[in-house]
Amino acid sequence: MNIFESAAQSLAIADPVEKCRETRRWVAAWRSAGCAVPSPDQRIDPHLSDRPGRLDRPALVAPNDVPKRKITGGVEGRRALLHAIAHIELNAVNLALDVAARYWDLGMPDDYHREWIGVADDEAKHFLLLHERLTALGGAYGDLPAHNGLWESAIATKADILARLAVVPMVLEARGLDVTPMMIDKFTQVGDLQTVDALKIIYQDEIGHVAVGRRWFEHVADLRGLDHETTWQDLVRTFFQGQVKRPFNEPARSEAGMGPDYYEPLADWYEGIDLSTHS
Ligand SMILES: [Fe+2]
Ligand SMILES: [Fe+2]
Repeated sequence: MNIFESAAQSLAIADPVEKCRETRRWVAAWRSAGCAVPSPDQRIDPHLSDRPGRLDRPALVAPNDVPKRKITGGVEGRRALLHAIAHIELNAVNLALDVAARYWDLGMPDDYHREWIGVADDEAKHFLLLHERLTALGGAYGDLPAHNGLWESAIATKADILARLAVVPMVLEARGLDVTPMMIDKFTQVGDLQTVDALKIIYQDEIGHVAVGRRWFEHVADLRGLDHETTWQDLVRTFFQGQVKRPFNEPARSEAGMGPDYYEPLADWYEGIDLSTHS
């Protein structure tokens, strides 16, 4: 079994439930066979597509056209939020498979590939958990429009592993740490404790994902003789289309080894940009 080929095959699967179940199936088989990574002389180009398989739905729209969601005791708002998070998790499956396999020829340590395959398995679990909750509330993934910003970040950074690691795990997944506790509070307030349980599992796993991203970012930065924090800030300014904004979940970010020296100066910088564009 070749994890690079398996990742490419999972990326190509269009049906989201099938993609996640199939990913979990081969990752479990690979783990029980000892987590082998092909040695550098056995690696061949897995020919990753820049477009993961997807069904026609959900429709992809501009971020501002994704419906807003207010969490209430009724199901509509909860379905909309669960749909939005499920979409993020499905993108996260593709992003983890891609980062595990795209840099197959850079001579990265085996643990780099192993850890990202583990992240892909977590993300597949997350999508399936949310899909189950969405279905229980009478919804279905694909019912609502969604945006493609996460995958666009993958394409924008694909030429450089350091840019990819700076943006996807250390901006996008770290942002998840900032917002998930608020979502857990809202679902708790309306008594949806099954969704709370799912979000708590996701939250714990995501701290680990930011840690994996931060660790390999620093590994590659060290190989290139680059300073961690200022290099990260430069790459985010160059490759990330959004803003890095407060408030930050400092305890969770620090648990992932990503201290305020990384993101506070960048938040100041974005606030400065904001002021100058509004004056
Ligand atoms: Fe996730
Ligand atoms: Fe994640």
